[in-house]
Formats: sequence, C-alpha cells, structure tokens
Amino acid sequence: MQKVGVLGSAIVGQTLGQGFKSHGYEVRIGSRTPAKLAAFTTSSGIPAGTFAEVAGWAELLVLSVHGSAAEAVLGLAGAANLEQKVVIDTTNPIADGPPVDGVIQFFTGPNSSLLERLQAAYPRARLVKAFNSVGSARMVNPTFAGGRPTMFYCGNDPAAKAVVATILEAFGWEATDMGSAVAARAIEPLCQLWCIPGFRQNHWTHAFRILWS
Ligand SMILES: NC(=O)c1ccc[n+]([C@@H]2O[C@H](COP(=O)([O-])OP(=O)(O)OC[C@H]3O[C@@H](n4cnc5c(N)ncnc54)[C@H](OP(=O)(O)O)[C@@H]3O)[C@@H](O)[C@H]2O)c1
Repeated sequence: MQKVGVLGSAIVGQTLGQGFKSHGYEVRIGSRTPAKLAAFTTSSGIPAGTFAEVAGWAELLVLSVHGSAAEAVLGLAGAANLEQKVVIDTTNPIADGPPVDGVIQFFTGPNSSLLERLQAAYPRARLVKAFNSVGSARMVNPTFAGGRPTMFYCGNDPAAKAVVATILEAFGWEATDMGSAVAARAIEPLCQLWCIPGFRQNHWTHAFRILWS
C-alpha cells in the first residue's frame, strides 16, 4: 500500500503528507481549492487535487480537515472512492467558541465520537483514529528524552488497524490499540487534555506516554 491520499490542506495535512513522502510513500494532497497548494506542491513535490481526485487515486487515505467539516469532506471525496480503503482519521470534534479554563469545547458528547459518526455515515470505509492526540510538529519522527511516545488508535477493522499500527511504529510511535471505534469517545478527548498545557503555559511540544507495569 504505497499511494497515500491526504484529505486536508492545512498544517496536519501538509505535515503528514511530507511525513509519508519521507517514509517512501507516493503522496497526493486534497483540498476544495487545490490551486492554493501550488507553493506547497513546488516545495514538497506533492501534487494537489480535489478531495475526489485524491481519494479516487489513493490506496490509503488520511483525513485531516476541520472536525465540523469531516463528514462533508468524505462526501466530497465520494463514497465509491472510500470503498474498503483504510482512512486514518486525525480529526477532533472541536466546537466553535473559546476554550473554558484552557479546555477546548467539543461538539460531541461524552458517549459519542466523531469517528463513530463518520464510520456510521461511511460504513464501507475502514476508519482508524490516530494522530489526533499530539500537535502537528511532533506527528512524524518525534524525539523525546523520555523515550517513544504513545499513539492511541482505534477502529472496527482489525486489518486496517494493523496497517495503521505499522505506520505509527515506522513514524516513531509506540502504537497502542484501544479497541473498536467506540474507544474514540476516550481518544478524541485526549486532544482536550493535550491542549491544556498549551493554553495555560504556552507549552505545545509534549506527547503522551503510557507506562505499563
Ligand atoms: N493542528 C494540529 O496540531 C492538530 C493536531 C492533532 C489533530 N488535529 C486535527 O486535525 C484536523 C486538521 O487540523 P488542521 O489544523 O491541519 O486544519 P483545520 O484548520 O482544522 O482544517 C483545515 C482543513 O479543513 C477543511 N475545511 C474547513 N472547513 C471546511 C468546509 N466547510 N468544508 C470542507 N472542508 C473544510 C479545509 O479544506 P480546504 O483545503 O478546502 O480549505 C482544510 O483542508 C482537525 O480536525 C484538527 O482538530 C490538529
């Protein structure tokens, strides 16, 4: 599986696109307006296209768009272009409105998640949540004196999760399987937790690590 299509043109899409390219994958990046990625394409060598063009071409997809637009972007990508494909879902369900005491507001409730919503809307895509609990600057080849950081992931399709675990390990993470899509109810709020030191102390370069006994 070498052709990676990134759906999302901002910092996460560009970072992961370049990360996949540096790890030997062929990469394209998608946007509603691919023309705005001309400078990025020139500097990175990663061609841009519409969400549908990129999704149709790719063997594996990365969804890195604003959480409130995630379902719409999968619609623009086209259900037929998602069929049976692994989709790494980096999104977080961040609501409009400011953080409350450093805690970002979500538009999902505690017993729901964006991943589950997307998986229900596109049941023939094989969604795996990952990369949502760290800042973009540490997503690829993170280095910490304390050792390999943990990336929690989840999804309903074991084979899709195995593909994503292999990618996470290659990118420098301890890939840690949290189970089915329901686990996104716990993984997505890690974004809220991760952002608190950012809003309170302007510290944005940390990552989570689980310590097993
Ligand atoms: N920033 C981080 O460090 C970080 C870390 C972990 C997880 N995340 C999550 O990763 C995702 C991407 O984050 P980001 O900061 O790179 O980008 P972002 O600003 O959250 O989203 C930008 C992307 O969303 C698309 N988009 C926005 N509104 C849209 C709409 N109404 N319809 C269709 N598409 C729309 C844009 O499409 P166009 O290209 O067409 O403009 C663009 O590709 C988010 O869900 C975020 O919560 C971010």
